[in-house]
Amino acid sequence: MGDLHVSKSSHGTFQPLFSQISESADVLLLCGDFTDYGLPDEARVLARELTASMKIPVIAVLGNHDYEGGKPDEIRHILSDSGVAVLDGEATEVHGVGFAGVKGFAGGFGRGALGPWGERAIKAFVQEAVDEALKLEAALARLRTQKRVALLHYSPIRGTVEGEPPEIFAYLGSSRLEEPINRYRVTAVFHGHAHRGTPEGRTSTGVPVHNVAMPLLTRVNPDRPPFLIVEVPLHECDSVTPVAEPRREPLVKSA
Ligand SMILES: [Fe+2]
Ligand SMILES: [Fe+2]
Repeated sequence: MGDLHVSKSSHGTFQPLFSQISESADVLLLCGDFTDYGLPDEARVLARELTASMKIPVIAVLGNHDYEGGKPDEIRHILSDSGVAVLDGEATEVHGVGFAGVKGFAGGFGRGALGPWGERAIKAFVQEAVDEALKLEAALARLRTQKRVALLHYSPIRGTVEGEPPEIFAYLGSSRLEEPINRYRVTAVFHGHAHRGTPEGRTSTGVPVHNVAMPLLTRVNPDRPPFLIVEVPLHECDSVTPVAEPRREPLVKSA
């Protein structure tokens, strides 16, 4: 799941949901925008919610909202201290499955992707997306597992941002992130950020991409809790398939 947008008043709101996730899954991925304004106090609320109810490993990447307050490092430390593996170009392994994580960045998709040409500001903007793609590639290269999962905040493909106004597609992700995902034959990708996007898509080589922004999951499946369970098969020939979440009333409203 992603885009929890925890505020200072969220205390107690997420514990029932996290307990349910603990009972339903082996690992939880948090795809950025944990906080609403990037405030350390918001991160502390989330850390307390996780500590109180989460019994499985949690792997996370930061989102753009977590940078808004200018204290991403403090937010990262608060979550790390509560046991969350916060990835920023690093990789980790849980139950024999490898996870590589970066925030990612914007810039657009395919032929519409912004190129590093002209003003210095444009070149710097594009370089940020290039750097994030290189960090993702480095993280994937470190994994020695047969199964590799990528978690991002921004989308690597156009397909999972569709549903948003086309005018803002370019701010929701970058095709530059898709290249390492295809090259390292990633098993599945999870991202957030596009709250009004599309739940599922595929890269140009067929890698499944899941947009797990909590507002999107809540809107698409209002009768289910806002998290997606995906089973990663142990055998190379099997495909990755989302499995149905338990049918219960949603415990948390959209952020
Ligand atoms: Fe968000
Ligand atoms: Fe975001």
